[in-house]
Amino acid sequence: MLAGKNIVVGITGGVAAHYLPELIGQLRFRHFAVVYAVMTPAAAQFISPLMVAAATGTPVDTEIFVAAQRDPLAHIHLAHLADLVLVAPATFDFIGKVAAGRADDPVSLLLAATPAPVLLAPAMHDTMWSKPILKRNLGILESVGYRIVQPEIGIQASGDSGEGRMASMNAIIVALGEMTKTISEKEEGGPSSLTK
Ligand SMILES: Cc1cc2nc3c(=O)[nH]c(=O)nc-3n(C[C@H](O)[C@H](O)[C@H](O)COP(=O)(O)O)c2cc1C
Repeated sequence: MLAGKNIVVGITGGVAAHYLPELIGQLRFRHFAVVYAVMTPAAAQFISPLMVAAATGTPVDTEIFVAAQRDPLAHIHLAHLADLVLVAPATFDFIGKVAAGRADDPVSLLLAATPAPVLLAPAMHDTMWSKPILKRNLGILESVGYRIVQPEIGIQASGDSGEGRMASMNAIIVALGEMTKTISEKEEGGPSSLTK
């Protein structure tokens, strides 16, 4: 279902960023998707942009205005190339930023500029995950069409156990596959055209 699809992955600054080369590899080599990535500057504190570029096979931008030196419309071109956008991990901070309508880093700018469906994979400590302001922000994003793949319960980077671990790679890939199914059904005017 993902074969041949252009998936643009946005990586934000959480510990779970270190899973992304493996996830990108699975999307490319098991599911035959074409994968591009952009990162926030904070994400580059957790994983090297070069490692992500090696995983995707394409350059990875972490700064809007550096990318613009190469191609002033890079952000629009990438946003319009996407069949699907995945943000993984999606931080507390990033979710709040996008819910506020902001677009001042390569990942939030991608979301602002893309017509493609977006899947967010939140990942954070369980106390952050339980905050009402986060739930409000996720509610805003869901109400305007973003999909959320729920985090899991388990041991966290802090050693605490709770809800907030990023969803498994398998759950993320299944959610992306379901999104492509919904898109095809919409294009064909099938049953899912009536759902969100
Ligand atoms: C060691 C460390 C680990 C962090 N892990 C997370 C995390 O897993 N989830 C999260 O939401 N924020 C986490 N943060 C906080 C974010 O890095 C911080 O809010 C940052 O501004 C996020 O930037 P971004 O959303 O633009 O990528 C962590 C911070 C540090 C210092």
